[in-house]
Amino acid sequence: MGAWIGGERIHLGAEAEVISGSWHGRDAVLKKRRPRGWRHPDLDKTLTMRRMTNEVKLTIWLARMGAPVPAIWDVDIQEATIIMERIEGKPLIDILKDKEYDEELLIKVGKSIRELHRNAVNHGDLSTNNILITKDNDAMLIDLGLATREYELEGFGIDLHVLHEIFRASHPEVKGAMDLVLKGYVALDEELGEPKAAPGGMPPNADDVVKRLGQIMKRVRYHGG
Ligand SMILES: Nc1ncnc2c1ncn2[C@@H]1O[C@H](COP(=O)(O)OP(=O)(O)OP(=O)(O)O)[C@@H](O)[C@H]1O
Ligand SMILES: [Mg+2]
Repeated sequence: MGAWIGGERIHLGAEAEVISGSWHGRDAVLKKRRPRGWRHPDLDKTLTMRRMTNEVKLTIWLARMGAPVPAIWDVDIQEATIIMERIEGKPLIDILKDKEYDEELLIKVGKSIRELHRNAVNHGDLSTNNILITKDNDAMLIDLGLATREYELEGFGIDLHVLHEIFRASHPEVKGAMDLVLKGYVALDEELGEPKAAPGGMPPNADDVVKRLGQIMKRVRYHGG
């Protein structure tokens, strides 16, 4: 990875460390998966590699489909590192806290999520940390280590449900946020028409996913899970 020049660390979490830098002169980040001490080292390595390959495969494929994810430029499986395009922007969690959002932005967030789902990929960890808002107010989705190819309504409904729960728990003051996200989610299909077949089948249409979200919410309310 000689083309990489590292700078400051911008994130240190339980799963990953992210360092800002440049790659062949372009603004980049290096994401390195951290070993989890409590797991057996062999299992740890296997899980790390599986999540990383998953993230790389689906992110590259989605980028090729024009979905709002960063470009991946280099990968080292042994070192468990990914070098990717650096997205200048702020996580949605901070945008909401700092009250820097408007209706248009939340609609865009919904459209970005729908772009993934139209390509039959479910994000798997759709928190307000994993949605980055650029200076041009585009919503980019990162951190696809738990993403899967998906064709059942349920998986897409759960993606939306996770985000909804986070809005409720962490940003209760942001009234109607989820409604705006869903407005964007449905609007993209109105703009682009029915989704096309992805490798594996037809992704469900947006209205059906939103209906499923409603059912999931009822289920959780009555049965607590
Ligand atoms: N391509 C990128 N451009 C800019 N910032 C990024 C990029 N990728 C990651 N980051 C920053 O690093 C943070 C962590 O990255 P990511 O979400 O991919 O790791 P993670 O798997 O959630 O790590 P952990 O679970 O340890 O918190 C992001 O919330 C974001 O602030
Ligand atoms: Mg993350």
